[in-house]
Amino acid sequence: MKVRYSYLKQQFGNAPKLWRDLKKFVNTGDFTLGKPLSEFERKFAKLIGTKYAVGVNSGTDAIKLSLKVIGIKKGDEVITAANTFVATVGAICELGAIPVFVDCDDTFCMNTKLIKKKITKKTKAIVPVHFTGYMTNMIEINKIAKKYKIPVVEDACQSILASINNKNSGTWSNFGAFSLHPLKNINVWSDGGIIVTSNKKYAEKLRLLRNHGLINRDNVKICGYNSRLDTIQAVVGNWLIPKAKQIANQRIKNAKYYDKHLSKINEVIIPPRIQNYKIVYHLYIIFVKNRDKLLKYCLKNGIEAKVHYPIPIYRQPALKYLGHKKGDFPVTDWHAKNIISFPCDQHLKKKELDYVISVVNRFYEKNKN
Ligand SMILES: Cc1ncc(COP(=O)(O)O)c(C=O)c1O
Repeated sequence: MKVRYSYLKQQFGNAPKLWRDLKKFVNTGDFTLGKPLSEFERKFAKLIGTKYAVGVNSGTDAIKLSLKVIGIKKGDEVITAANTFVATVGAICELGAIPVFVDCDDTFCMNTKLIKKKITKKTKAIVPVHFTGYMTNMIEINKIAKKYKIPVVEDACQSILASINNKNSGTWSNFGAFSLHPLKNINVWSDGGIIVTSNKKYAEKLRLLRNHGLINRDNVKICGYNSRLDTIQAVVGNWLIPKAKQIANQRIKNAKYYDKHLSKINEVIIPPRIQNYKIVYHLYIIFVKNRDKLLKYCLKNGIEAKVHYPIPIYRQPALKYLGHKKGDFPVTDWHAKNIISFPCDQHLKKKELDYVISVVNRFYEKNKN
């Protein structure tokens, strides 16, 4: 049997209503900042629980533009997670700021106990990353942010509809940055991103920044970017958004099923599943013994397992100038060696989940010490 990682064919392969919507849209010629975009922004803000949402061209720009609104500039320090995807760090670096890393814990998110000793006079923002569909402990982040008066931008790119105490990711701070990339839980047909905020001034500034700083056709108020969310992608988003809760719920159901069966294997450790945290499993990751061998065995047996990520961002050549060395972030390092991700999306069938479970079982049966 094959268990594929990408489910884009299943997601979009049979979508007659979407094709009708696209055809109607094409006939309007409303291609930049058109009506479907404002409709999508309204619906997205409502879904997440903020007053405003501003569509931009990627999750990376969602972080970058939010940091720009705060006023992040060259030489400022921005605290973020040592185990994040490169994009979080890229957004910080694009503004000339310095990423200051904090190690994660076994929830894959920043260990908030380690933040205080990273704060200096130059610290101008914290970017907690709600990694894998988990959430960073925003209660603690907000206590620190308040005490030290540091603005927060949530990198919620992997965690749409994750929550703590029923309060959604992206709503805990000044800005929530989401990605709509084809690999994300709510995905469009190209790059895309969206920022949520309940602050009117921030929303207005974001709208200016994403569209060259233009207040109308002829007047430029500030220097901005070309970072509009493509209106055609907003049409796709409008088609998908009614399914958002169901997508999250099905992923949660799949993960629970995996947890139940994989936890019986001695060589597997399931990450902590904290009460009152809703994890939306953009990635389903567990800790395993003999990871590299298991990964090979899964691939050989048709399961597209993956590792997110084998080389932590803080050890990548692009960030050598920061002077970090292996061992600086021990939990991140340990994860890089011991994690494995299995497909967990909403289109998987029970027999595919069962197959993954049986292959992992078989591997450890064969490799008993
Ligand atoms: C944690 C994290 N932050 C930011 C991004 C950036 O999103 P995008 O690819 O839409 O620019 C991603 C997406 O890949 C991500 O996983």
